[in-house]
Amino acid sequence: MEERAPSPLAPARTGSRGRGGAGAGTPGRPVRLADVRTEQVPRLLTQIGELDRVLGGGLVPGSLVLIGGSPGIGKSTLTNMALGNLAAVGRRTLYVSGEESAAQIRLRAERLTAATAGALEVPVLAETDLDTILATLRAEHPEVCVIDSVQTLHAADLSGAPGSVGQVREVAGRIMQVAKADGIAVLLVGHVTKEGALAGPRVLEHLVDCVLQFEGERERTYRTLRALKNRFGSCNEAGVFEMRGSGLVEVLDASARFVAEATGKPGSVVLAGMEGSRPLLVEVQALVSPSELVPPRRVVNGLDRSRLALVLAVLGRHAGVGVGSADVFVNVVGGVRVDEPGADLAIALAVASAARGVALASAASGGGPVACFGELGLTGELRSIAHPDRRLREAAKFGLRDVVSPETAPTLRQALRSVLRSPAAGREAA
Ligand code: TYD
Ligand code: MG
Repeated sequence: MEERAPSPLAPARTGSRGRGGAGAGTPGRPVRLADVRTEQVPRLLTQIGELDRVLGGGLVPGSLVLIGGSPGIGKSTLTNMALGNLAAVGRRTLYVSGEESAAQIRLRAERLTAATAGALEVPVLAETDLDTILATLRAEHPEVCVIDSVQTLHAADLSGAPGSVGQVREVAGRIMQVAKADGIAVLLVGHVTKEGALAGPRVLEHLVDCVLQFEGERERTYRTLRALKNRFGSCNEAGVFEMRGSGLVEVLDASARFVAEATGKPGSVVLAGMEGSRPLLVEVQALVSPSELVPPRRVVNGLDRSRLALVLAVLGRHAGVGVGSADVFVNVVGGVRVDEPGADLAIALAVASAARGVALASAASGGGPVACFGELGLTGELRSIAHPDRRLREAAKFGLRDVVSPETAPTLRQALRSVLRSPAAGREAA
């Protein structure tokens, strides 16, 4: 392969490479970190605020970004929009699709034009043959390229069907070589099944600079984009989007919407959670229903199933709320996924409230929704979690002044006592 000026992002190649044999190499020269020169490369802004933020302030030229997500979640839409915005400000772009025909891509782009000025300016290549794609990259020299998706491409000299582990790894590896050598930022789209299965994207995580996960339920409108790995920024960032007729729209006031929609009925509680560095209030709902099934159902949406098992066990052992043989359903409303331990208390309060059939209430909530956060210990204690002040501030911003937390209640039993009256007391009050 033709060698070009090495990118500042790639490790330098020394001449000793590949000669092999013990002792055959010439020693490299380590440099004191303080003497290492760092280049501040200006980033490429996709002008999709949430995407740029999750990337750590835009795309780094020459970097390789993997965007994973289940089919239909909006990966093609998001990458189309990003390229459209970049094309609109005069960046050279290329959209390579192994999934859709150029005509299909155009149809989608037409829907996006209302919000994405350059949507129809993006050059497309509908192709699955890797060699053709690499040759096109070298010839066209785009600054930003989307490969949709890595599982559909095929290296002709390798055995194995497209999408097999060997093919996916090789395809991504060769794209990376060209991208780093030519300074092309590549957004690599990868499908992940609901269980995170399909070896595909997983095997690439170590290879790429940044791994973004696009999550949500296909049928719901809200989607979250998180960074699972980011060599150029924080990997705690997440953005919230909504799928509309004209593409993905950033949701900047997600807390306001979720709080307004919270029912405050039995089984409902607001979690003062964090999406990366940003506080987010979401409603957690539970339903506890008698069941004949053995074992009874334990269904979660937007949460980790094993977390529910733990919370139910602690509720039964340490707070006197047994759900026994009942079916338990727990949902995070709006299709948002929560995977922080700080959600434990919300699950516990929602389930306890559902099991008792009594809405949570506190002196200060005035009949409105109750908010909470906290991790549950195995002995029934509430454990502190990160950013309590930011969570409290966000809750207060939306009128939730009374927040149950490890600071207000050291144990789950005390937390329950503060917001869950017995059914009898509830009726008296009513
Ligand atoms: P898509 O981006 O193709 O998902 P992925 O590439 O992750 O498989 O789009 C997902 C769904 O979104 C698709 O079923 C149609 C819908 N959609 C809209 O609702 N509005 C739009 O403007 C677009 C482009 C798609
Ligand atoms: Mg797609």
